[in-house]
Amino acid sequence: MMARLRLPERRPGSRILGVGVYRPTRVVGNDEICDRIDSSDEWIRRRSGIATRRFAGPDETVISMAAEAARKAMAQSGTDPGDVGMVLLATMSFLEQAPAAAPRVAHLLGARSAGSLDISAACSGFCYALGLADSLVRSGDARTVVVVGSERMSDIVDPADRGTAFLFGDGAGAVVVGPSETPGIGPVVWGSDGERHHVIAHDRSWQEARDGEPWPYMRMAGPEVFRWATRIVPEISREALDRAGLETGDLAAFIPHQANLRIIDAAAKSLDLAPHTAVARDVVTAGNTSAASIPLALDQLLAQGTLPSGGPALLVGFGAGLAHAAQVVTLP
Ligand code: UT7
Repeated sequence: MMARLRLPERRPGSRILGVGVYRPTRVVGNDEICDRIDSSDEWIRRRSGIATRRFAGPDETVISMAAEAARKAMAQSGTDPGDVGMVLLATMSFLEQAPAAAPRVAHLLGARSAGSLDISAACSGFCYALGLADSLVRSGDARTVVVVGSERMSDIVDPADRGTAFLFGDGAGAVVVGPSETPGIGPVVWGSDGERHHVIAHDRSWQEARDGEPWPYMRMAGPEVFRWATRIVPEISREALDRAGLETGDLAAFIPHQANLRIIDAAAKSLDLAPHTAVARDVVTAGNTSAASIPLALDQLLAQGTLPSGGPALLVGFGAGLAHAAQVVTLP
């Protein structure tokens, strides 16, 4: 006879309870980037919308920035460290293979009974982690989940590479996800296209670097990624809205990954967003911070103080691996 095992009590939904960010102190303008590449402030603003980004100093690590952002999200939501069941850290720029960064973040937060792991899904990592956090809370496997995106892209981007040097920045953003009587995180729509892994990828392995080759920098076939992004973002946006039972006109905010202002504006146009829908444009002053960009942009919109609490916001991540993910959430 098969033994019958007890399961935790399921919950009807989960939602974002609090948001926190960490922005490195050093602001870097386009002119400084142009010291190393043949470009101009005018070209960078016109082709990407970026005016400034932040670069982390030696003491601003993936772990310290993640912990600071998470601490703020926990303080805002009144979350006790003992109630955290899981810490999910989305990052593509933590340079140690093992252990992961998340256990050290959990330790800094005092979350002693939390599981912890890093999520490697590049610029869509935050949406992947949020989808998993929703499942963990609804299944009853974790009471609250701390979801963080933290990046030091300046460590993996070649400052002399004309195709990427101006685009990326550093920072961290976090949310606390906890139980809710009504669903506050909609179904996640996710996917990937490993066949096109090479369009955003490191140019060599760590093993080659060990054997005397130069540092493995991340390279990008910009125009090819751009074409893919302008197609996939509206596609999965519509699917996420549909699966959440909403229409574009219902959205209080549209918060896509902050890769390029032209991608954000093209997606907003393609979705035919209503005038009342706030569109996140944090990329202008933060650059592309990969897994950190969506919580950073969410925080920037919330700081404006005009978004309705409980209003629906559409989050859309996309990037390397050609991994992508989208979901509708209700605003804290
Ligand atoms: O976060 C993960 C997902 N990432 C993305 O979604 C990024 C997607 N890609 C992009 O955002 C854009 O492709 C970039 C912003 C990276 C580049 O913009 P673009 O409009 O696609 O530029 P391009 O590479 O097609 O180059 C256009 C022109 C070329 O000159 P010609 O051949 O027209 O004379 C380039 O040589 O601009 C030139 N160019 C530059 N000029 C000044 C390329 N890079 C630069 C530069 N400064 N840094």
